Amino acid sequence: RMNSIVDTLMSQMTIEEKIGQLNLVTVGFDVTGPIVSENVDENIRQGRIGGVFNTFTPKGVRPLQELAMNHTRLKIPLIFGYDVIHGHRTIFPISLGMSTTWDMAVIETSARIAAQEATADGLNWVFSPMVDIARDARWGRISEGAGEDPWLGSQIAAAMVRGYQGSDLSSSNTVIACLKHFALYGGAEAGRDYNTVDMSRITMYNYFLPPYHAAVEAGAGSVMTSFNEIDSIPASGNRWLLQDLLRDQWKFNGFVVTDYTAINEMIEHGVGNLQEVSARALNAGVDMDMVGEGFLTTLLKSVQEGKVTEQTINQACRRILEAKYKLGLFDDPYRYCDDSRPGTDIFTNENRLAARDFARRSFVLLKTDRKTLPLARSNSTIALIGPLADDRRNLLGSWSAAGNWNQSVSVREGIINLVGNKNQVLFAKGSNLIEDTYMLQQLNAHGGEIVIDTQSAQQMIDEAVGIASKSDVVVAVVGESQGMTGEAASRVDIGLPECQKRLLQALFNTGKPVVIVLMNGRPMTLTWEHEHAAAILETWFAGTEAGNAIAEVLFGLYNPAGKLTTTFPRHVGQIPLYYNHKQTGRPFNATQFTDKYKSRYLDIPNDPLYPFGHGFSYTTFEFGTISGDKSELRGDSDRLTVRVPISNRGAYGGEEVVQLYISDPAASVTRAVRELKNFKKIYLRAQQTDEVTFVVTTNDLKFYNTNLDYVWEEGDFIIHIGPDSVNTQSIRVKWLK
Ligand code: IFM
Repeated sequence: RMNSIVDTLMSQMTIEEKIGQLNLVTVGFDVTGPIVSENVDENIRQGRIGGVFNTFTPKGVRPLQELAMNHTRLKIPLIFGYDVIHGHRTIFPISLGMSTTWDMAVIETSARIAAQEATADGLNWVFSPMVDIARDARWGRISEGAGEDPWLGSQIAAAMVRGYQGSDLSSSNTVIACLKHFALYGGAEAGRDYNTVDMSRITMYNYFLPPYHAAVEAGAGSVMTSFNEIDSIPASGNRWLLQDLLRDQWKFNGFVVTDYTAINEMIEHGVGNLQEVSARALNAGVDMDMVGEGFLTTLLKSVQEGKVTEQTINQACRRILEAKYKLGLFDDPYRYCDDSRPGTDIFTNENRLAARDFARRSFVLLKTDRKTLPLARSNSTIALIGPLADDRRNLLGSWSAAGNWNQSVSVREGIINLVGNKNQVLFAKGSNLIEDTYMLQQLNAHGGEIVIDTQSAQQMIDEAVGIASKSDVVVAVVGESQGMTGEAASRVDIGLPECQKRLLQALFNTGKPVVIVLMNGRPMTLTWEHEHAAAILETWFAGTEAGNAIAEVLFGLYNPAGKLTTTFPRHVGQIPLYYNHKQTGRPFNATQFTDKYKSRYLDIPNDPLYPFGHGFSYTTFEFGTISGDKSELRGDSDRLTVRVPISNRGAYGGEEVVQLYISDPAASVTRAVRELKNFKKIYLRAQQTDEVTFVVTTNDLKFYNTNLDYVWEEGDFIIHIGPDSVNTQSIRVKWLK
């Protein structure tokens, strides 16, 4: 039926109408790029627009759809997109935080709820999941992805697509997902957003491309191109990327949209004028042009001049129409404009409870002295201090535009809600978020979220020290403002701002135990904080229910179980620092640290402060000896079963993420020192012991070789199991062909 409807329609369309379908405009409700679209209403009437983004609510969407349905010749409905990234109205933790749950059911449900809310709000297409692998914490958009690991990133990408799209795209509560940013956007040199990417094919295939591929395999209906170049050709004009890899090798059959004005930006990249780059993008495989209008204004001329064919335009138009068909828009263009749904489906109690649960699952206990946390609920006075302690504006994180920060719960509110006695919680701001005028000017020009206190820095610190001295414990809520990460928010210094460090120093000097609650969107350098704090709880930007979730974890109603999905360096100079690095020919051995001709630094160790997979619990998990059922295996169908007993030796029930890594010490190409290949998240009651079993297959041994064939090679393999990527035990096996 889809083919016959689309065929009939296309046989009636003029070439101008077909080009119109390839044009995506923003109505400027939110500004997510450098320019906004103009004359939108008139262009819809003229059949010059195929889709709209940055508006929502049935009231915002319906009139635009009515223009398309009542005033255009062929009455082709519009598709409505939006950046629904980590929740729509009910905001969940930023994506980096969702990844630290290591819980695919939670991640899938978060996308499911977001789709439910988005469709109730007039939308049918979301610009998510963002699956860019990132190894550079300076890059602000590391907050939007799932971290540094391709295997975990792939599981998460697929879970998100399943959550958004469900099993039936035409159902009124599912949306088309858009995997982004295709491709390699996270590889920007020096972590500076939009910067050049330059990497070998083998690195792409083994470490950066797998999550995109996984999202395609999961059925993602659309793909967004990235701003960067690949092999010296911008992604939006890169035929190898969009045709050979995406369509021919991966069999992607949805539609490709550019990022915001990415076609026009090919002019700045230096590969042609608007007509040339637009033709190049279409010929490379782009179907829809976001905001730039290069397709709209030049493609007809390019057809006349023989630079593109009408057939290529037909193909792109067909893909857009097919997406609209799959969404059910040809049956009912107002399917997502039900005025009653916002009242029943959005920001419900149930969704808020889910947000609270996801948030507490995302927190990572980076450090614990094993006595200060969890806090006692009664008879203790808490000094709650810090620029983010009584703040609602910075809880939602970037890309949360449909969320209302006013409806979120601050840490101060969350703690008071939980302890029930205001007098137990003394509060002082203690310092401004930042005082660096260069950064402050930029942030306030675009978000205005940083309110500078007029008190002097010393007065603020004195007040904080005053309440700290009267309290049993200090909870210091510090970190970044939400605008300090996200798009166009790269930083070279990934430590806490100096004014906050001065505050912490004064608090440490009081001798009281200081619990640091961190809010931030990237790995940070915390070596000094680690030395002095009693505990450090990483909470990312935790969303609508942040304060309640943080309180529940601080007071032990939930035992933290999050694990890092990015490495936290000791020093920014170590970047890029990631666990699945290569060995090199001169690996450094920390026990022989005076060895000269080794791959190392003179001034600090190579290893990170907190490795990938790290995260403590209020309880202690003890890993027994790992064992495999075979030491020699043969052929593709053989299976290795690996077992490890785990005991909860502490006083609290809790979850542990048991991680399995594999090393391939001798292969035809150099391999990473170890690669995550599986994990299990288990719950153990206090004093309970259980056994975790993994089955390893030859699939877990595969990699892309120098011919880019996906193979496994016979030889020895080391299987490592542990609570993070460093503290593992291992067994060695031989696997022959
Ligand atoms: O989806 C985003 C993308 O991640 C960055 N540029 C703008 C797009 C649409 O808002």
